[in-house]
Amino acid sequence: MTPPFPPRHEGRLPPLELLRRGARSFISIWNTAAFGAPVIDTRILGRRIVVLNDPALISAAFVEGHAAFERKSPQMRHALEPLLGDGLFISDGLVWKRRRPQVQRVTHPSRLAELVPVMTQVAEEWAGDWARRPDGAVLDALAEMGRFAAEVISRTLFGAALGRQAAGQVVAAFAEYQAVVGNTDLLSLLNLPDFLPRWHGFRARGAARRIQAVVDGLIGRILAGEGESSLIAAMAEGGGMDRRGFRNEAITLFMAGHETTANCLAWCWFLLGEDAEAEAAVAEESQRVLAGRAAGFADIPHLPWARAVVEEALRLYPPVPLLAREVQAPVALGELALEAGTIAVVSPWLVHRHRALWEAPDEFRPQRFLPGAPPPARMTFLPFSLGPRVCTGQHFGLYEAIIALSSLAGRFRLRPVPGHRAFPVARLTLRPGESLPMRLERRA
Ligand code: HEM
Repeated sequence: MTPPFPPRHEGRLPPLELLRRGARSFISIWNTAAFGAPVIDTRILGRRIVVLNDPALISAAFVEGHAAFERKSPQMRHALEPLLGDGLFISDGLVWKRRRPQVQRVTHPSRLAELVPVMTQVAEEWAGDWARRPDGAVLDALAEMGRFAAEVISRTLFGAALGRQAAGQVVAAFAEYQAVVGNTDLLSLLNLPDFLPRWHGFRARGAARRIQAVVDGLIGRILAGEGESSLIAAMAEGGGMDRRGFRNEAITLFMAGHETTANCLAWCWFLLGEDAEAEAAVAEESQRVLAGRAAGFADIPHLPWARAVVEEALRLYPPVPLLAREVQAPVALGELALEAGTIAVVSPWLVHRHRALWEAPDEFRPQRFLPGAPPPARMTFLPFSLGPRVCTGQHFGLYEAIIALSSLAGRFRLRPVPGHRAFPVARLTLRPGESLPMRLERRA
């Protein structure tokens, strides 16, 4: 089965057309050649952009050459700075070095057994909610999974009771922020100086202040000893972070951990809705292993089909489809000499669909991730990035997606709604458009 992707043109687009398409969805800018080239070295309005598609070059930049490639692109920093401040996702240098272990520690794989019960609990609540809906009801799978992931990360960050109250408020404020910021910051691309006000500056700061106020209130209560165990309390035990640091990292974790996982899950439902064989395999596995309950930590190794569908969804539709860095000092990369200011890009969207790196790259084949299949070659499967800046929540996100999918797929089926086929759109993250209507059916 070949799920949808933007049409690919031949040759080069004029720069303004490229920008126009990029502003709508930056996965629509690639031509056919981009999915076969090892490197794309180009200039857009004077700014050099080098796209690395070759595993050895990717590793040379993001792993061995990390120090020169650590800084996020100006577009990413400008889009998120009003919200995250010096939060891990966009910081670099000493701040990043100091904070990374503090944040990494709290979602480390060794803590997953402690963190998973929240996911199981939320999955059980969701199954209960879906069971109360009429058979055949149409729901928005993207919004459902957005609320699901927000509940999980909110209760994990702030503790069960406080998190439950806060999830809705924080999500609403995030949606407002995203609507204001969009994805392309043309002023940065055009190389104009940082002090010029950006058109979205004031509204974005207003929306950011609303999120920060909610989070500040929650952190105050947690640090005063209120609430159950939470990531904020765990970070506080580590010491060495002030109130503003807690707030920035809490918002970073909420942002980084919520929409990514939600998009991945929405794609899983869409793909299963299109592929009856994979859908039957996931449902059979769930019924056999879970027998109608939600999945827990110990079930994960027994759910290879759910995991394979999640991984194949992450390959076909990586929630973060573009990793862009600003080169900080002149650096050699293989044969390439990159000057300071060059934007170096690794695009999981391109790498995951590269003709030389994957067999039938545009096809949905979860079997490639089942036990016994050869593992993907090094540096060809990058949904969580790579190197020292790899996603700190990769195990958390993966476990959450497997738990949500397997817990619900044994009891329910989501069917496509005639007349609607999802289409990938990449803004800050890659989503199946603005909504994903699907019909809910209860299994016998
Ligand atoms: C399917 C789910 C997820 C995907 C696909 C994903 C993907 C990514 C990617 C690609 C990056 C690197 C971005 C870049 O280098 O430009 C990243 C960074 C990050 N992610 Fe995730 N993520 C997911 C879930 C989570 C979760 C659940 C959390 C937290 C609980 C999280 C926390 C973070 C943080 C803190 C960073 C910044 C790390 C740093 O810059 O040092 N992510 N994520």
